[in-house]
Amino acid sequence: MPELATATLPQMPACAHRPRPYDGPSREEVLAQRRAHYNPAVFTYYREPLMIVEGHMQYLFDDTGRRYLDLIAGIATVSCGHCHPKITARVTEQIARLQHATTLYLHPTLPRYAEKLLDKLPDDLDTVYFVNSGSEANDLAITMARLYTGRRDVIAVRNAYHGGVATALGLTSHHTWKYPIPHGEGVHHAVCPDPYRSPFDGTPEQIAEKSAEDLADLVRFTTSGRIAAYIAEPIQGVGGTTYGAPGYLERAYQVAREHGGLCISDEVQTGFGRTGDHYWGFERSGVVPDMVTMAKGIGGGFPLAAVVTRREIAEPLAQRIHFNTYAGNPVSMAAGLAALEVIDEDGLQENARAVGGHLKAGLERLAAKHTLIGVVRGMGLMLGVELVRDRLTKEPANTETIEVMEAARGLGLLLGKGGLYGNVLRIKPPLCISREDADFAIEVLDLALSEVSGQVPPSA
Ligand SMILES: Cc1ncc(COP(=O)(O)O)c(C=O)c1O
Repeated sequence: MPELATATLPQMPACAHRPRPYDGPSREEVLAQRRAHYNPAVFTYYREPLMIVEGHMQYLFDDTGRRYLDLIAGIATVSCGHCHPKITARVTEQIARLQHATTLYLHPTLPRYAEKLLDKLPDDLDTVYFVNSGSEANDLAITMARLYTGRRDVIAVRNAYHGGVATALGLTSHHTWKYPIPHGEGVHHAVCPDPYRSPFDGTPEQIAEKSAEDLADLVRFTTSGRIAAYIAEPIQGVGGTTYGAPGYLERAYQVAREHGGLCISDEVQTGFGRTGDHYWGFERSGVVPDMVTMAKGIGGGFPLAAVVTRREIAEPLAQRIHFNTYAGNPVSMAAGLAALEVIDEDGLQENARAVGGHLKAGLERLAAKHTLIGVVRGMGLMLGVELVRDRLTKEPANTETIEVMEAARGLGLLLGKGGLYGNVLRIKPPLCISREDADFAIEVLDLALSEVSGQVPPSA
């Protein structure tokens, strides 16, 4: 990015937090050690990987003490803000008292937290099983659905991401994540209802209807006609913040139930107030799932996930021994309970609605100015900006997306990336960001998009 006079650069809102001086190994040493010993599949963002050593609410600090506005929150995870004082205090207290004993013994936080979590869900979703990650939650949900129905076939949605363990990888629908090894036994993928890259023509509502019809065809043509489950993210996260018009999920649930399937809502990204208008993504469609899987925002940054369902659906799991070592770990339970309280006490869902709306309006203003933006999607603080080289052909602007991220990082803004083609800027910050932070982000993006568009060849 060319040198710009400091005065013209966007100024990040002030922050009183001062990071502790970093005195650990250098970034270069850490990078070399990681490259030498860590699995090469684990990648970093940025040409010069960033080393983050401290966090404070919506801000992160690198090893030099430089502050960044975090618009990706550990991938939609640190919803309450980095090192939120209440979560930190509760976890610290628990760590000093008891770190692990397993569910073979009673501990008071597990049932207390379970009760409070279930209060956030429709009444008949009355049974929870805590696990450690979103992948595990989806794996367990599919196991329970198959046991309950006695059936094998599961319908997922194209462009979905449900995790990386074998069952979840089978549900995931991106060739970029799927290894050429066996997975996804009995899984079939229905058309993604998002209108931007839909194989169908028409209004978003017509596309939603045709996508639901495709789902019915899929069941009729590829299964026995009776299925175990239909699983969908109300808004696809890794897929680039994609979703169907109102009406899609209602119809999809109807089709799944007509064919005997349980409906699973993967709320790993959309849960816990992130979408602003609702606490859960499924509420936007007025549907009630049979199972809800959750992770990320549930734990305020700690490894925690859960599957919630009705007792009758959970019961068949008890026909054999089922055990998960870290499930219900007291430190995770303390973190989850604290995060649940913080989301309400700090008004984070409402902040996601208000600041998210403000941010989306700013992004739409940028779309009116920068042809590199194909579409702005999302709600609350789950937003996506799809970059294309040509608005008619929708050729994905994937290298430009990387350049925008690099330029934004140079200006103090951290973004995420997603979509099948890697051409969607993903914005999923801690839910505590302010309007001023949002304004700063828009200024940075404006500058970054201007710089990057200047680099695009005229034909593009
Ligand atoms: C919607 C969704 N489901 C499941 C997962 C898997 O979660 P985890 O990485 O905790 O296994 C993710 C992770 O990004 C996700 O976005």
